[in-house]
Amino acid sequence: MGYRGRAVRGSKGWMLLVCVVAATLVLSDARRVRQPRCPAGCTCTKDNALCENVRSVPHAFPSDVVSLSFVKSGFNEITGGSFVHTPALQLLLFTANSFDLIDEDAFLGLPHLEYLFIENNRIESISPFAFRGLKALIHLSLAYNNLETLPKDVFKGMDALAKVDLRGNNLICDCKLKWLVEWMHHTNATLDQIYCSGPPIHQGKKINDLMPHSFDCITAEFAAYQSLKFESISVEAFTFGREQYVVFAQPFAGTCSFLEWDHVEMTFRTYDTIESTSTVVCKPMVIDNHLFIIVAQLFGGSHIYKRDISANKFIKIQDIDILKIRKPNDIETFMIDGESFFVIADSSKAGSTTVYKWNGNGFYSHQSLHPWFRDTDVEYLEIANKPHLILSSSSQRPVVYQWNRSQKQFDRRTDIPEMEDVFSIKHFRVKGDLFICLTRFIGDSKVMRWDGAMFKEVQTFPSRGSMVFQPVSIGNWQYAILGSDYSLTQVYQWDSKRGQFVPSQEMNIQAPRAFSLVSIDGRVFLFASSFKGKTQIYEHLMIDLSN
Ligand SMILES: *[C@@H]1O[C@H](CO)[C@@H](O)[C@H](O)[C@H]1NC(C)=O
Ligand SMILES: *[C@@H]1O[C@H](CO)[C@@H](O)[C@H](O)[C@H]1NC(C)=O
Repeated sequence: MGYRGRAVRGSKGWMLLVCVVAATLVLSDARRVRQPRCPAGCTCTKDNALCENVRSVPHAFPSDVVSLSFVKSGFNEITGGSFVHTPALQLLLFTANSFDLIDEDAFLGLPHLEYLFIENNRIESISPFAFRGLKALIHLSLAYNNLETLPKDVFKGMDALAKVDLRGNNLICDCKLKWLVEWMHHTNATLDQIYCSGPPIHQGKKINDLMPHSFDCITAEFAAYQSLKFESISVEAFTFGREQYVVFAQPFAGTCSFLEWDHVEMTFRTYDTIESTSTVVCKPMVIDNHLFIIVAQLFGGSHIYKRDISANKFIKIQDIDILKIRKPNDIETFMIDGESFFVIADSSKAGSTTVYKWNGNGFYSHQSLHPWFRDTDVEYLEIANKPHLILSSSSQRPVVYQWNRSQKQFDRRTDIPEMEDVFSIKHFRVKGDLFICLTRFIGDSKVMRWDGAMFKEVQTFPSRGSMVFQPVSIGNWQYAILGSDYSLTQVYQWDSKRGQFVPSQEMNIQAPRAFSLVSIDGRVFLFASSFKGKTQIYEHLMIDLSN
């Protein structure tokens, strides 16, 4: 049946309603007219019944009653299957009742119902399946109740619906109601103007003026995925031979332990181990399809291993000069003009942060940067397409070095003013802008932006025993995770409207030291190394709040 046909039936129905109301008025004045099988508290004619002050929905109505009204009833909800005994109903009206809930299948077995008025009650909650089976319903009114929302797809299957009245409720036009806006844009039914009671951004607007894109409903979070029974001080994810791996430095066991992704079991399983002592960093580096692991140790020097594919194990190929690297703290790898480098930050007084270069056979020391400064961290980044290093140290402000292409050396360029005691620096980019996260153990960690000539402060974060403040980018999501040894780890999410980070989530990690992302099989995992507890794996999940 087309829409026009329904409209005609609609106007007939309205006349029917007028007759019903007229008839009930007459009846309540003339209670002597008693039909057989009329329940207590109701007055009935052959095809019409009106109940007042009843405590539950009665059953014993004349079987061919077509209209039924409830006024000032005492029941708290309309329960499922309340009207299966009156299958001929075409009109059902509830007004000035006190119930607040409509249960699922409340109107089951009413294939001819065309008018349903549930007005001036106190309804707060409607089951998603409350109206199931109402295939002939033309007019639905839920006006003047206490509704703040409606369950998704509550009108599904009501194909004859031509009019919905939701006036006089307190609808909150948030993601939970996005479906209604979408439904309004493709249904033939008309809705009266209704105003949103919230949330603040939509308060006072007409819901009829909102568009589906007025709602921002996709959010994301890190959900606990797997817990690993070991402590770790560094974590690095890497790809080798098209497979994904993760390597941890385990300080107490003194090993580099590797995990690989099991595509069948959907977990990370043990791949291999490099035995060493007092390991602080295990840094992977792939050069010409060969996998190298730089193993930094606090005692006994640092070493470089290579994966021997045919022997299926790691083989030590080189020691690193123990006079330069005495107390390594951080390693970064990078490429400049097609050549492979790594740099080790050394935190001893006598040692020196040193850049190493791959020469085709091995790595040799390329340049030692400032000695005596006890560097805790080194970050490689490009500023205006030029290679730079930023060194953080215990005894001075962070120093920025720039690559000199003709000399093939890093030259000191500047330092970051008024920033003492920076433990480490990590960079990230948002829409072409360069930012850095500066970690301080106690006091304030910072986010700064490169303004073309220097780094300028954007935001300050209270640090409570923080050894890591790490930016994490996943598609369009930009996070910064601030670890704490004394409190929960705080995840911040970049709010592009404000140009700032806002708190998004807390994580309970014992003494976090590093984070690393892995993308596998269309999923994204975040590894969190823990110095004093279990190493944690989280999965980054998208959540549609409109579902
Ligand atoms: C709206 O009405 C048109 C014309 O009668 C019909 O083709 C269409 O299927 C209807 N749409 C819905 C969602 O009922
Ligand atoms: C590179 O170093 C040379 C020699 O110290 C110097 O003359 C030149 O200005 C430097 N280039 C840049 C771009 O800093």
